[in-house]
Amino acid sequence: MMISEQMNSALNKQVANELNTSFAYLAMAFELDDMGLKIFGERFVQQSDEEREHAMKITGYLQDVGGKVVLSGVDTPRSEYGSARSMVEAALESEKTVTRQINDLVSLAESEKDYATRSFLQWYVDEQVEEVSSMSELLQMVEMAGESNLFLVENRLAKMMKQEQGKE
Ligand code: FEO
Repeated sequence: MMISEQMNSALNKQVANELNTSFAYLAMAFELDDMGLKIFGERFVQQSDEEREHAMKITGYLQDVGGKVVLSGVDTPRSEYGSARSMVEAALESEKTVTRQINDLVSLAESEKDYATRSFLQWYVDEQVEEVSSMSELLQMVEMAGESNLFLVENRLAKMMKQEQGKE
């Protein structure tokens, strides 16, 4: 195995963190859909899928370096946020938490002189800048629109998602 036992277990922990985030976003997606915010809900399904991809990228790395993937239980996500704003606030907090988790992994890799893992983690460092920024923007949009005008956010998200599809 090309990584330490400690790194192997820290990366498995991050797989669980990413899967928990994926599940939490999925719960938000269903609640948004129930509130009649279909596009908003779709956005969170997309976010949920991305988190799963983040988890899978780590499992792929563990396999590449001869580590062992150990999956652990996924927590029951919170539901009944009651408003889009409190959901997006929670999502932003969650992204900030993930950023700290990634930074801790980077510190561990550096302290172990594990430069392969350090290099692998750079993608996550950059991705977290993106994720915190896009969630902050979404929160700003929700705050500007107010709970009664969330259809404006729906329209904006619909346009953004269409543009993103065009780029793929
Ligand atoms: Fe995988 Fe949104 O952090």
